[in-house]
Amino acid sequence: MSEFSAQRRSHPPNPALRKALATVAELTGSWNLGRVADIGCGKLRHYKVLAKRAKALFLVDTEKQIAALHKDGKAQYTIPKIAEQARRRGRQVFAVTVQEFSVLPTTIDLVCCVAVFDVVTRQSRQAITVLAAKKLDANGHLVIIIPRNDSTITRRCGATNQYKDGHVFSHHGLQTFFCNFERYGSVIKDCANAGFALVRDLSSYRQVCLIFCK
Ligand SMILES: C[S@@+](CC[C@H](N)C(=O)[O-])C[C@H]1O[C@@H](n2cnc3c(N)ncnc32)[C@H](O)[C@@H]1O
Repeated sequence: MSEFSAQRRSHPPNPALRKALATVAELTGSWNLGRVADIGCGKLRHYKVLAKRAKALFLVDTEKQIAALHKDGKAQYTIPKIAEQARRRGRQVFAVTVQEFSVLPTTIDLVCCVAVFDVVTRQSRQAITVLAAKKLDANGHLVIIIPRNDSTITRRCGATNQYKDGHVFSHHGLQTFFCNFERYGSVIKDCANAGFALVRDLSSYRQVCLIFCK
């Protein structure tokens, strides 16, 4: 149930994202990021950062997350409603499920996937990587950011809750998965298999931050 692990819309953006976007701008020679997809957009923590620099923005997540009513303080919203309000202001913003995105007759210049790979199994990571490769234009970029080494989480990872390459946690009857990417060779390998070349590695102790080009 990775949907529940998404942070609030008002939560600060992942600290690696601005640096990654600045690097993409440097690589493409354009501040405007073009047609952008935020795969695993969650509760829209990165909406503002991406929307102001995108020609079109696709907010992509699971059917459950796209349909959910989110709460942030006193505000209540759904992702399709936010997209609709933006379109009324003349912005190209669309809320789509992973399945809808997969068959959308449009190509993308930049796919961002932030704080998703740590909460899904490798099979899902590979599916997201293949989807990004399918939707990206030739020379399009893929940004993968994965938080890691959060001791409040890693201290709860032990032999008893180990599952595949991560650990599972139960909370109020729901199970969540977490993989701490101390090493991230598997991500680079899966991206290479999907046709991506790694062009920048901006990773730090607390964040894996990889930029690939198709
Ligand atoms: C921890 S949240 C991160 C949300 C957001 N990117 C952020 O940084 O705040 C992980 C998100 O990935 C989504 N997710 C899980 N599996 C997915 C998949 N196969 N494809 C796309 N999104 C997925 C979840 O629904 C959830 O919204």
